Amino acid sequence: MPLNHLFAPIRLGRMEVRNRLVMPPMSVNFGVDEQGFVTEQHWVYLALRAKAGTGMIVMGGGTVHPDGLDLPRMPRVWDDCYIPGLSRLTAEVKRYGARIGLQLLHGGRQAFHERRVAPSPLPSLAVVKGVPRELANGEIKELVVAHAEAARRARDAGFDFVEIHAAHGYLISEFLAPNANRRNDEYGGSFENRTRFLLEIVSAIKERCGRDYPLGVRYNGEDYVAEGWHLDEAVRLGPLLQAAGADWLHVSAGVYGSLPVTIPSMYQSFGCFVHLAEAVKRAVSVPVIAVGRIKDPVMADRLIAEGRADLVAMGRAHLVDPELAAKAAQGRLNELRPCIGCCRGCIQNVLAMSEATCVMNPELGREYRLGQPRPAARPKRILVVGAGPAGLACTRLLALRGHRVIVVEERARPGGALVLASRPPGRAELLEMVEYQLAELQRLGVEIRLHAVVDESLVHELKPDVAVVASGANPRMPQLEGLFESGLELSTVLDVLSGEVIPGARVVVLGSDQAAMVTADFLAQGQRQVAVLGGDHFASELAPNDRTSLRQRLAAAGVKLYKRASIRKFRAGELVIDHQKGQELLIGFSDLVIAEGFRSERGTVDMFRKLGLEAHLLGDAKSPRTLLETTAEADELGRAL
Ligand SMILES: Cc1cc2nc3c(=O)[nH]c(=O)nc-3n(C[C@H](O)[C@H](O)[C@H](O)COP(=O)(O)O)c2cc1C
Repeated sequence: MPLNHLFAPIRLGRMEVRNRLVMPPMSVNFGVDEQGFVTEQHWVYLALRAKAGTGMIVMGGGTVHPDGLDLPRMPRVWDDCYIPGLSRLTAEVKRYGARIGLQLLHGGRQAFHERRVAPSPLPSLAVVKGVPRELANGEIKELVVAHAEAARRARDAGFDFVEIHAAHGYLISEFLAPNANRRNDEYGGSFENRTRFLLEIVSAIKERCGRDYPLGVRYNGEDYVAEGWHLDEAVRLGPLLQAAGADWLHVSAGVYGSLPVTIPSMYQSFGCFVHLAEAVKRAVSVPVIAVGRIKDPVMADRLIAEGRADLVAMGRAHLVDPELAAKAAQGRLNELRPCIGCCRGCIQNVLAMSEATCVMNPELGREYRLGQPRPAARPKRILVVGAGPAGLACTRLLALRGHRVIVVEERARPGGALVLASRPPGRAELLEMVEYQLAELQRLGVEIRLHAVVDESLVHELKPDVAVVASGANPRMPQLEGLFESGLELSTVLDVLSGEVIPGARVVVLGSDQAAMVTADFLAQGQRQVAVLGGDHFASELAPNDRTSLRQRLAAAGVKLYKRASIRKFRAGELVIDHQKGQELLIGFSDLVIAEGFRSERGTVDMFRKLGLEAHLLGDAKSPRTLLETTAEADELGRAL
């Protein structure tokens, strides 16, 4: 199906763009050295996406002032010394016909360091702690000039355009929002005053760089916090930005601490912010970019066809699959590597000051070192035991490199732990990882044998040179006195999610890892009363963006969470528990669901080694961990063998 709307050219101001697919700004916290100069890591990563055919690439977080640095490794543009490095980057990306622009950012009260400034001395709503210093009136005017100078440097470095970051609760967005801006001067109070800083920046850039230097503005359609910036004001501001010289508007949403968040997880619906862009679009005649959980190029095409947006930004979809544009343009949609909306490798890592990576694409940020998978020097016969995500990910790489691989799985279907992990509400996208891997293996002609018994006769039949044991993990049973005489129906998270056990109306879940918490959500459907006996943290393996939505769901369903809880004793139909707030009697519970972690299943590795076969443990079979670690490990092993 040709995506004619998505791949139609468009003009933004004087800039022709080859199509409407936008890679929005993403601060990946890599590819910038200690001194703030961009490195090969950054341009190889961006150039790959440009080469695939993306129309417009916005490089994230070009910081206009040292106080505005939002993360340690962001591109800097507050001094001319950064121009040569940035010039190298733009040249590398422009070779492939994409338009490359720089986002101009000042982190305001959401910056990671201690020199935070803001319109008013009010702390960020989340993530960053501490009260920022209030900007003096004269400093605001200096920052207007700083943005204009930064834009001039971007232009001199060869960027085709700049886009002002007036979204997500950073400095300019703080000026817009009544909850962050309590100023009494001409930059605070009325709508006219709160929007003054941004409008002055637009005018100053146009004056400094020339009216025809392409300039976009990214701002929020909604902050999604009390007393924040709302859609009615966003719609009102659109025509004013256009009149001031903005060549396009890019409508996003959310600030630190909002719900939904700016980078929504799998719990949020696809295109969750499109209605905001659509509303702004009705008020202006310049093109409007929509963003937010758009990962399907067909959906992107439809949004344009229906006139809801002029261009579509697909952020994480570009992190996951560097070839997104090529696959979409060539109709190879079944080859697309999907973002599963887990937020683990990308934004969670970045906010923890680490380099962005990706559960679905462990190569992200390492493209400059890895290149294409190297063909195997001596193709081997490789037996992979276990068709879970780690086994399949490793198999894909092994097969790509020319090894002859066969996957054996004892269960009736592939997917391993993800089959059950995808069953609780809102988690279905996890299975897309497996669907992608299976499509890849089919394309590569790899055989997957289901219902397989892995024993010596199989080894004699297949005669592998190497075995990879990725047979997963099973629930651990706790040692609790009286557990089996408690009268409670006992089950594990796997029993519940597989449907083998259907608990009664009142259930205690013992454990608080991600499996426990999504199972509690699963159980809370259908009016069950659920109590979770947790440790210090709940679902700590999930990214905050994902966990926040889950916690909200559990709260709405009335699931009771007990922190630092343990079972003191069982009595008929009763549990005496200790928890953070003291001792409590839980009465009338019928079921206890065990979610106390997992232990590796790796029996076959000894058999292989006894037979003198080289055998490698992989994934949860090596040690139970999250997908982020196991798929990265699968990638390493797939490249190494
Ligand atoms: C790792 C990461 C870093 C981001 N950094 C920025 C940034 O510097 N500036 C910005 O405006 N948006 C940033 N975003 C938000 C994205 O541009 C985009 O709005 C968001 O990811 C939602 O789009 P998606 O669902 O297509 O990923 C970032 C997103 C991610 C995942």
